[in-house]
Amino acid sequence: MNILIIGGAGFLGANLVRRCLAEPGAKVTVMDSLDPHLRSTTKHLQEVWERIHFARCDLRDEHLLSELVQDQDVIFNCAAQTSHPLSIQYPLLDADINCVGNLKLLETIRLLNNRAIVVYTSSSTVIGKAEHSIVDETHSEKPLEIYSANKGVAEKYYRIYHTLHDLKTVVLRFANLYGPYGKGFPEFGFVNYFIHLAWQNEEIKIFGSGDQTRNVMYVDDATELLWRAANDDRLIGETYFATGDDHLSVREIAETIVSVLGRGQVTHIDWPDERRRMEIDHVKFSSERLRSLTGWQPRYDFRSALNELKGVLERTT
Ligand SMILES: NC(=O)c1ccc[n+]([C@@H]2O[C@H](COP(=O)([O-])OP(=O)(O)OC[C@H]3O[C@@H](n4cnc5c(N)ncnc54)[C@H](O)[C@@H]3O)[C@@H](O)[C@H]2O)c1
Repeated sequence: MNILIIGGAGFLGANLVRRCLAEPGAKVTVMDSLDPHLRSTTKHLQEVWERIHFARCDLRDEHLLSELVQDQDVIFNCAAQTSHPLSIQYPLLDADINCVGNLKLLETIRLLNNRAIVVYTSSSTVIGKAEHSIVDETHSEKPLEIYSANKGVAEKYYRIYHTLHDLKTVVLRFANLYGPYGKGFPEFGFVNYFIHLAWQNEEIKIFGSGDQTRNVMYVDDATELLWRAANDDRLIGETYFATGDDHLSVREIAETIVSVLGRGQVTHIDWPDERRRMEIDHVKFSSERLRSLTGWQPRYDFRSALNELKGVLERTT
């Protein structure tokens, strides 16, 4: 099976590369722009470098993209401007990558390889603040910042290319993934950042009380879901929340990280104004729709995943 992983040098992408390489006969091509603004690097692919074909290419470059999408059986798009704060600082860049980039990809696939399965990694933050105690795919979308707005727009492109052009698209909405190769910077996912701080034996500074709740999921569960999405025709044409069972407060997340890793400490600081304005507060997602179709269950809970990750960190740092 020929597989193209766009954004494959990133956190989710680098883990997905390994999941795909575990399949017999998988030929994996990784495409990534390695944008320094997004702190991208090929470092996380070093171990598997000899087993992949790597192309440095921007999603917005139709010419290079045209060469790469042909002959692929599965195309995963894990490429995005993924920072909520950066999307506010550089809204046009965000729209260019997260909207125009996806349109260019879909057009290229429509013209050159319309039999491929195309899986898009979206974000549960497209809904904004939760209006119900449990949020599923029927929930309204009122995103609070530019990244989430543009992810929501891109999702619609994938659905439209399915309904209008018969492309085999699947959209999975993830929330707060963590695991190996996570970015240890505050402008990206907070769980990986907290893990990075704790591992460096530094303070995890929580905004306010930290009582706001989140779904969190180990990245291996996410890559398993991506693999299933690419291999189950029943999922084609729709958008699904792809979340695990762990629903914890931000404070519990930080305290559990410190407890399991045995490093770092948790402190509290006042909310920065911009962060307070884009805060989604309490939210709990249901992935029931995806689970009932596929029978999928997460393999990890937060503690067991952190223990596994601790082993990885001990071996690799
Ligand atoms: N990590 C999470 O918790 C999470 C949650 C919800 C959704 N997602 C989605 O999952 C996907 C992967 O996220 P991640 O956490 O791995 O992010 P990441 O920032 O680690 O990886 C994104 C990768 O995309 C690449 N990229 C960015 N713009 C590109 C372009 N124009 N052309 C080619 N490559 C480009 C970057 O260089 C980077 O390697 C994204 O679509 C993100 O929106 C992630």
